[in-house]
Amino acid sequence: MEVLRDAERIPTGGAKDRFVRKLFAAIAPTYDLMNVVMSAGSIHLWHRAFRRRTGLRPGDRALDVCTGTGELALILTEQVGPEGEVVGLDFSPEMLAIAREKSARRALRRNRHGGAGRVTWVEGDALDLPYPDDSFDAVSMGFALRNVSDLPRAIREMARVARPGGRVLTLELSKPPSALVRYPYFFYFYRVVPLLGRLVDRRTGRVGSIRPYTYLPASLVKFPDQRAVAGLFEEAGLVDVSYCGLSGGVVTLHVGRKPA
Ligand SMILES: C[S@@+](CC[C@H](N)C(=O)[O-])C[C@H]1O[C@@H](n2cnc3c(N)ncnc32)[C@H](O)[C@@H]1O
Repeated sequence: MEVLRDAERIPTGGAKDRFVRKLFAAIAPTYDLMNVVMSAGSIHLWHRAFRRRTGLRPGDRALDVCTGTGELALILTEQVGPEGEVVGLDFSPEMLAIAREKSARRALRRNRHGGAGRVTWVEGDALDLPYPDDSFDAVSMGFALRNVSDLPRAIREMARVARPGGRVLTLELSKPPSALVRYPYFFYFYRVVPLLGRLVDRRTGRVGSIRPYTYLPASLVKFPDQRAVAGLFEEAGLVDVSYCGLSGGVVTLHVGRKPA
């Protein structure tokens, strides 16, 4: 199967970073639309679950790491309100360009109905966050744990910049624990998604030897399970670590707290 073959071809270390950067540069213009199509609209439910768990209040400061086109960062701006502040950080200028455009459009609309928090889009590396310790009331990452080249380090960096008492949250694809969901889902994800992706891949071509929408399912093949990700949260010094599977475990939301 193409997906399993490509799972073996995903580069590691710095080569993975360069590969991921090229890949998102290629798919940035269609990224948001493909998320809605491939998740059959469920992305909105997953975002709602995320929104309920951030613990943010008006006036807070939040960071969304690997923000991409900025969907989670824009949710955070609604929660922190006009007195608060949000930073959306990513290493892909092409993804950030979409985030900027979208936030400008939404800000115009919002200003007619009441303000949301300020958002700043920053080009930077999740593995070396350009902020001092204890800077943010919440630090989030959506659908990017599979993409970073050093997963434990990415979680440690998020924990480092969270304030004592602040939350670290990740939303990520996962393998459904129940076989009843897992097998039909794997058929869809490993067989159908690459076909849907070909509509886009035809325009973008391959990145190295891999098609972008074959990489997406391939990146889940070796990704650790929910319990192992929770373990990495704990190793990063976070406490009260919990996780909940969404849509039968197709996606998992992990939440941890930095001890006060
Ligand atoms: C699948 S997208 C997720 C975008 C967004 N968070 C969302 O929820 O849709 C993954 C993003 O992670 C970014 N990324 C991967 N590794 C990174 C790193 N080391 N530093 C910064 N951004 C990174 C990519 O550029 C891409 O925009």
